[in-house]
Order: sequence, then structure tokens, then C-alpha cells
Amino acid sequence: MTSPRIEPFKPLTERIERDIMDLARIRDADNPGWTREVFSSSYRESREWIGAKMSDAGLEVHRDETGNIVGVLHGSSPSAPALVTGSHTDTVVGGGRFDGVVGVLGSLELVRQLRERNMTLTRDLIVVDFLGEESNDFGLSCLGSRALAGELTSLDFDRRNGDGIRLGDTYTEFGLDPSDVLCADWARRLPLHCYMELHIEQGPLLRRKEASIGIVTAIAGIERLIAYFEGRPDHAGTTPMDDRRDAMVAAAQAVLSVQREGCGAPVHGVATTTRLASLPASPNVVPGAVQLRAEMRSIDDEWFSAAKRRLAAEIVSKAREQHVDVKLEWTSDNPIVATSGDIHDVVARSADSNGLTWEAVPSGATHDAVHFSRLCPMGMIFIPSLNGRSHCPEEWTDFSEISAGVQVLGSSLLALDKEDHVS
Ligand code: HGY
Ligand code: MN
Ligand code: MN
Repeated sequence: MTSPRIEPFKPLTERIERDIMDLARIRDADNPGWTREVFSSSYRESREWIGAKMSDAGLEVHRDETGNIVGVLHGSSPSAPALVTGSHTDTVVGGGRFDGVVGVLGSLELVRQLRERNMTLTRDLIVVDFLGEESNDFGLSCLGSRALAGELTSLDFDRRNGDGIRLGDTYTEFGLDPSDVLCADWARRLPLHCYMELHIEQGPLLRRKEASIGIVTAIAGIERLIAYFEGRPDHAGTTPMDDRRDAMVAAAQAVLSVQREGCGAPVHGVATTTRLASLPASPNVVPGAVQLRAEMRSIDDEWFSAAKRRLAAEIVSKAREQHVDVKLEWTSDNPIVATSGDIHDVVARSADSNGLTWEAVPSGATHDAVHFSRLCPMGMIFIPSLNGRSHCPEEWTDFSEISAGVQVLGSSLLALDKEDHVS
């Protein structure tokens, strides 16, 4: 790959701050922090706001069949493979103001700057606000990018949430036709040059290393586990302790097994029990049935498969000690994906030319970039998270740090626009 001079790029921090704080006003007031769950009314309102913001910035905007909001800034040679950037603006329940948002609104500042400086890229620049990146009650994350990559199937539409509602019916209620969603292939039809996403790190590494920019090396794979523990419901007051088949005790031991596995990863790996529910949760009955939900993540393939096997074996053997049966269901949310080496080098030179320190880091969080990596070379730029916190109201990144991220995103895209080929 040649090394064209990287143009320094200076976004307007005030405009980025104004947009982020404006969007932060659109949230579900019944929940703590910032909540804009996919398909919710606050999310529906935010999609209108995003679309208007994109067209104010000078993008040609439409909602694609999968519910993504797509803005295009045409280049001088529209037939050239396009540049794509973006992220998501849905949140977890009780989340923050920056997760995903910095990648969408930061890209708008980039577009404004290009237009105000009458800078025309060679390639089209496509900015996407992807539908529903956060994992939801249907157990499926990255709905919009997954659909564009052709990885959303009709079977997924039969998934049901905790209230028994089908995902397909939820799409219909949101104004999207599930059959159109499955045929949405603009990202597979168009020639694409590369995809870049600006995102908060959501962890402590950049702050610890005092680096302004993170260049992502790989995005962790995610395996999700549901364990069904079957014991025997008994009277909690009369059943002797040595004569019980207590599903909750077996599940509690599984929680500790999950934690032990996550702590044992030599390079990179985490494991979290996210839910424990006993049925019926009567106050005077030894739990006969308990459901546990957990997830494991790693960029270390070798550790990952061995850890899953070890964990499954330990959960089953500990349950047997309690005379409890257990059924394990694993689903893969996404495999481990590596980022593009060419993009990594361009981002490093962009950070250097903007006088910013950078660090190569893994991403423990998943992103729309995982699915877009099926379609073209992919890269991610991280900016620091205060105290490494995210998915909580305390999530914070200074606007000057966001601006630095937009600077590097802008310089990198300008450089990549000139490259004939990216791999
Ligand atoms: O779960 C994740 O890693 C992302 O924040 N959706
Ligand atoms: Mn995110
Ligand atoms: Mn998130």
C-alpha cells in the first residue's frame, strides 16, 4: 500500500457536543440513564431526528428496507467502490449517551467539514445508523448490519421475546416488512472499498495507557449460554437439607464456574452470568427449575473452545452432586473477526499526523463492524471511556476526545479515498 500524505483534519468540537447532547434528550423517561431500545417509541422518535440531522449535514438520506438510516455524500466518481462509516444510536436499558452515538454523529461533523471546505471525495461516502445494534429481548444483536451482511434469516423472525411476541411481528409493527428486510442487499450489490467505525472503547485500556486513540486489532467472538437446571420442588420448611434436589444451588455453583473460567483466560477472555431465574419463584419452595443465562467473549480462539468445553463439563458435574439435571444451549452471537491491516496502518499514520498517541487494542464489545467485515475490509477507531465505564449512565468521553476521534476518522477516510485497493 502506498503512503499518501495524511491531511490533518480539524472538526468543530462544539457542533459535535451540541448534536450529542440534543440526541441525549430523546430517551425513555421511565428508565434510568439513557434508554432508547430498538423498536421503542423513543427509538422511533430518534430515527426521525437522526434522518433530519443527516440531511441537514448535506447527506442524501433514506431508510433502507432493513430499517437502517443511510446517508450518501456523492463522490466525483460514483462508480468507484464506496467508503462506508457509521455505527448505532440505540442503547441498552439504563445506558449512556456515547455508545454508538459518537460514530454516527461524529461522521456528520466529518461530512459538514468536507462540504464547508468544498472537498469532494473521489468515492461516495455512505454514513449508516444501523438498526438495533444492542442485544435485545429476542437475543439477537446488530439487526441492521446483520441483515445487510445477509446473516438475518426468516428463522430469526420466529424468535420470541419474554412476552412471547415474534421478532417478525415487531418489525411489522415498526413499519418494516420482514420479507423486504431479507431481500435488502444494497451493501452486497454495491462495490465497497472499506468500512470504518469510530466508537468509544467501553473499557479501561486507553486511559491506562494514556493513549488518545485505540486502533482495534480484533473484535471478540461471543458465545451465549442458556442452562436449564431441573431439580425437585419441595417444601422449604420441612425438607431435610440432605434430601433436596435444589436447582438454585446447582445454578449458583454454575455462576462461580462461569466467573472462574473468565478469570482464567491467558490473553483475552471474559465470562459473565447475566441472569438467574427460578420458576416458580415461590418464597417457601425449594427451587425445582432454574434458568441461567451467561455469555463468554474472547479474541483467543484456542482458549475459547477449550473454555466452553471445560465450563460445560463443570456445570454438569456440579449439578450432578446436587442430584440436579441440567440442559445446556449454546448460541454463537458472532465469531472473532480481525480488522484490516491496511486500515490499521492508515489510522496509525493519521493519528501520528494529527499528533495523537495511539495504542493497538482488542475490542471486548461487539459492533456492527463485525457484520460489515463480511462485505469489505473493516477497521475501528476507539476513543477513551472515563473509568472504562459503559452501558451505564456514568458512561462519559470528553468532547475534545471525541473530536480527536473524528479528526483521525476524517484523515483516515481522506487517505483511504485515494488508495486504489485496501485489504
Ligand atoms: O454487547 C456488546 O458488546 C455491544 O455493546 N452491543
Ligand atoms: Mn456500541
Ligand atoms: Mn453497547
